[in-house]
Amino acid sequence: MSGRDPAGMLKPVSMPGPACKEVNGLDPYHFLALMGKRVLHPGGGYTTSEICRLAGFSDGAEVIDIGCGVGSTAIQIASRFGCRVTALDIDERMINSARSNVHAAGLVKTISLKQGDMQSLPYADNSFDVVTIEAVTMFTPDRPRAVGEALRVCKPGGRVLDHELVWLEPGHDEVRRLFYEEICAGAVFGSQDNWIQLYRSTGPHVIDHVSAPFDMFTLRGLLRDEGLAGLFRMTAKCMSRWCYIRNMIGLMHRLHKFIPYLGTVVISVTKERT
Ligand SMILES: C[S@@+](CC[C@H](N)C(=O)[O-])C[C@H]1O[C@@H](n2cnc3c(N)ncnc32)[C@H](O)[C@@H]1O
Repeated sequence: MSGRDPAGMLKPVSMPGPACKEVNGLDPYHFLALMGKRVLHPGGGYTTSEICRLAGFSDGAEVIDIGCGVGSTAIQIASRFGCRVTALDIDERMINSARSNVHAAGLVKTISLKQGDMQSLPYADNSFDVVTIEAVTMFTPDRPRAVGEALRVCKPGGRVLDHELVWLEPGHDEVRRLFYEEICAGAVFGSQDNWIQLYRSTGPHVIDHVSAPFDMFTLRGLLRDEGLAGLFRMTAKCMSRWCYIRNMIGLMHRLHKFIPYLGTVVISVTKERT
């Protein structure tokens, strides 16, 4: 990234228009969920496909999707692979959206929804064959505890698959500060190696990883993840209020400046058989 000017990213985007209580203070992913976006993780559908490939789901397997958002990945795993899925999220609004999506998909008997915190999962040890996590661990204040919980509820020989954002190169502290401050309050992450080391510290498990671009906001990524009809629906929702348009333009404008600095990773952990 040499030659880039992180200081140039300092300028906040200021858009004219009235404030809107409904979107003020919303995290970007909550705002995007409100706009009808279904895929809320940075690697988009590509990294979900990688998770599905690495998971080796079998019919009837018990799966937990931690930080399920609006339930899109849980629905995909249940409908494509015949797994029984627990979809857990800390946020009541997300669980409510996931509930209506699960209902619309006709999967109420296969997917159970639960409000809960990744750092303290309300399940016994060794409960699930596969644990999926997409862009959630980076929001947990106690990271070792969060990944420890993911490993604890996974059966020996089972898999934990975690997809997270990474900084592509060290340095540029100002860029990082701005990203956390202006884009994603509460999120903190490091390099790909930091994520791998975090999982290595959980025990002598077999660890693999796949790197992927941060392309959830490219046109290709948006079309792949939401489809043309989904994009039209999101645009229509966005156009329905000035403060939505204003928020969306501000978010996109700010985000695009960070894209060259960001990548994503899927970490695959096969839990040691004891
Ligand atoms: C970036 S969104 C990703 C949503 C979903 N995994 C997806 O990829 O579409 C992050 C999600 O993690 C949830 N979350 C954040 N901290 C959490 C925690 N400690 N335990 C469980 N869920 C959490 C948020 O409520 C939000 O739904």
